[in-house]
Amino acid sequence: MTYQISSLEDYKSTYKRSIENPESFWAEQAEHFDWKKKWDNVLQWDFDGPSIKWFEGGKLNITENCLDRHIDTRGDQVAILWEPNNEDDAVRSYTYKELLAEVCKCANGLKSLGIEKGDRVVLYMPMVPELAIAVLACARIGAVHSVVFAGFSAQALADRVDDAQAKMIICSDHNNRGAKNIAVKQVVDDAMDIGCNSVNHVVVHKNTDGDVNWSDDVDQWWHELVDVQSDQCEAEEMDAEDMLFILYTSGSTGKPKGVVHTCGGYMVYTCFSFKNVFQYKEGDIYWCTADIGWITGHSYIVYGPLLAGATTMMFEGVPTYPDAGRFWKICEKHKVNQFYTAPTAIRALMACGDEWPAKYDLSDLKVLGSVGEPINEEAWHWYDQKIGKGNVPIIDTWWQTETGGVMLTPLPGITDAKPTYASYPMPGVQICLVDPDGNELLENNCEGLLCIKFPWPSMLRTTYGDHQRCKMTYFSTFEGMYFTGDGARKDEDGRIRVIGRVDDVINVSGHRMGTAEVENAINEHPNVIESAVVGYPHDIKGQGIYAYVITDEAFDSVGDFIQGVKDVVSREIGPIAKPDKIQIVSGLPKTRSGKIMRRILRKIASGDASNLGDISTLLNPDVVKEIKDNAL
Ligand code: WTA
Repeated sequence: MTYQISSLEDYKSTYKRSIENPESFWAEQAEHFDWKKKWDNVLQWDFDGPSIKWFEGGKLNITENCLDRHIDTRGDQVAILWEPNNEDDAVRSYTYKELLAEVCKCANGLKSLGIEKGDRVVLYMPMVPELAIAVLACARIGAVHSVVFAGFSAQALADRVDDAQAKMIICSDHNNRGAKNIAVKQVVDDAMDIGCNSVNHVVVHKNTDGDVNWSDDVDQWWHELVDVQSDQCEAEEMDAEDMLFILYTSGSTGKPKGVVHTCGGYMVYTCFSFKNVFQYKEGDIYWCTADIGWITGHSYIVYGPLLAGATTMMFEGVPTYPDAGRFWKICEKHKVNQFYTAPTAIRALMACGDEWPAKYDLSDLKVLGSVGEPINEEAWHWYDQKIGKGNVPIIDTWWQTETGGVMLTPLPGITDAKPTYASYPMPGVQICLVDPDGNELLENNCEGLLCIKFPWPSMLRTTYGDHQRCKMTYFSTFEGMYFTGDGARKDEDGRIRVIGRVDDVINVSGHRMGTAEVENAINEHPNVIESAVVGYPHDIKGQGIYAYVITDEAFDSVGDFIQGVKDVVSREIGPIAKPDKIQIVSGLPKTRSGKIMRRILRKIASGDASNLGDISTLLNPDVVKEIKDNAL
């Protein structure tokens, strides 16, 4: 079994060991898995390339470790417990045995349509068990899955499919989300019209009674494909460094990039971190409320928990449907032990009132987790008092799509938890703060840029199809270090608090968005000449999106224009990227070299325009007064 840290002393000595001799530490963790062939080298690395190889030469299949390995010891234990959107519908559950059979059937179905090792398959599905099954089915046969969050638009889906050159899309017919019905297959049809030339098959899981348009050439029902297959499928032998998945995420420039994770290191780290971060014990019911469309769902709904032999819950719905007590009702109903959610959800539920959690028995909770964005002090205390009743440890976990697993967190019941501090590094994680010149800040009580100076097993290996971009984005800012894009502070005892992004990435309700990406979408509007997007503090979402736009004024109604801009963003990216505020301006503050001064725009958007610093060197200082006077 994967090592589980049990005390503060143990954490300290484990951490020390992991840093002094990382190779033997991680080899020891890797020993707990089933390998078809042992690795030749534990680690070979060079951040300059970058070239990172863990367990090179090792052969494995991650699904054998998620499923087959558990059959003898826990075949009849529930692996996935599924709570539907509509609370009157039946809960579904899959034991490890059943899940293995379903995964094999699906894998055989994919093979029958010609999917082979290395082929990319895009999954565009709501939170139904079939999504997890499809993820694992791809991994079973060595196909590379790329899950696209089902809230993204047809254009965004097509962009990702095209970048990955996917051969297949697996989707649902419709999606029930709260009181809404979303026509998922229709979005895929639209994406196929825009692009997706590499796609030969669209497999459609029937999730509702809703109608769909059908094209016999490409469309294929999941049940017709999968139900007739054998429930045995030999697992493809994968090299530790073969690609497991691509997950697209936003950066400060250009289109989203495909973060690449590989089989061996990702397996070892997600299992190790799951067991330790959540202190998961045999028989516990674990629930992460994220969507599998994001990294949190990959690592801590699917892979980490299943590797550790846990019971992992999936929830189809939203926190406020049918009412604001839903999360807490589910915790009571399924006797949830570890609960993992995002600050946005906590803030939204906090705003609904204390009476909701008060109605339910939350006494089974042992760990309360937070992820995705900084958690503010008020939300932290509410979580602690109203959900944990003051005696359940809170873990504020900091990590990224690129890191694959949790990097910084208190360990529940083991290390202390200070509100808003992600606190301490996980074993093997050599975190550091640097100044803008890249000098490491060695003293406590300082503020700097967050970097990691040594590889860890689940780190990204490349950005799909563009290795140079990976190098430029993460490994070129500071020599010999992985740069996270986040700013952080260290308190007097060395605990770390992650403050937020220092680049042009904003974090809206825990969703990562590139300002350039939103600007490009806005600029698609026929009446927009130029735009600049910044984040501003938002009570519920953490950050809201504030857009400044220059228009040609060739429209009749400002209201219609504003709505039109929002529609364009929904169409290009998805509703999650819609600006909260849109201010029409006559110009944007620019330096003499033509660079937009976002610092000024950020200050005005956050309602703090009192001290804008020296603006006299701007190309157009006058515009600043106008923007300030008309700020929303
Ligand atoms: C932010 C999500 C503060 C951070 C797992 C990071 C956080 C980005 C925290 C990655 C936290 C995530 N405290 N900020 N506990 N967790 N972030 O790739 O800015 O969707 O760089 O991964 O979210 O977002 P991503």
